[in-house]
Amino acid sequence: MIGFDLQEVAKIKDAEKLLQKIACESEIAYIQKYKTDFPMHVASLWSVKEAVFKALDLQSGQISYKEIELCHKKSGTPYVLLHGQAKAQFKRLNLKKIEISISHQQNIVGAVAIAD
Ligand SMILES: CC(C)(COP(=O)(O)OP(=O)(O)OC[C@H]1O[C@@H](n2cnc3c(N)ncnc32)[C@H](O)[C@@H]1OP(=O)(O)O)[C@@H](O)C(=O)NCCC(=O)NCCS
Repeated sequence: MIGFDLQEVAKIKDAEKLLQKIACESEIAYIQKYKTDFPMHVASLWSVKEAVFKALDLQSGQISYKEIELCHKKSGTPYVLLHGQAKAQFKRLNLKKIEISISHQQNIVGAVAIAD
């Protein structure tokens, strides 16, 4: 299954508030390193979570944003860890892996998630 999401950075009025709402502690620590482009990185995190949500064939409110955790390999390649209901759905659908890709372009960020 595939999930795709785009976000417009300028539409985020309070990036700090959004970060607190959607991010796990590890994600907050990672993103707070960015003094510039902070809203873009928050938008990117949001986009990843929305893309994964779509790839998992969920309904709004079925899981919490914090049950999808964005991580990075040493090389910088992003990947996600699933927790709670997100992990339960992954198992329910008999999925074996979920992969993501992120892109930023000026005011637009996007993410795709492929689960199979
Ligand atoms: C439903 C939702 C994915 C739609 O997002 P949006 O920003 O309003 O709109 P987008 O442009 O990103 O996507 C719209 C498309 O997503 C698709 N879509 C709608 N619900 C979907 C779902 N549950 N799963 C996958 N795709 C869905 C539809 O094709 C829709 O296009 P259409 O209206 O032309 O048919 C979003 O509002 C939502 O509910 N997100 C999850 C909220 C949530 O529970 N978060 C916590 C965990 S991440």
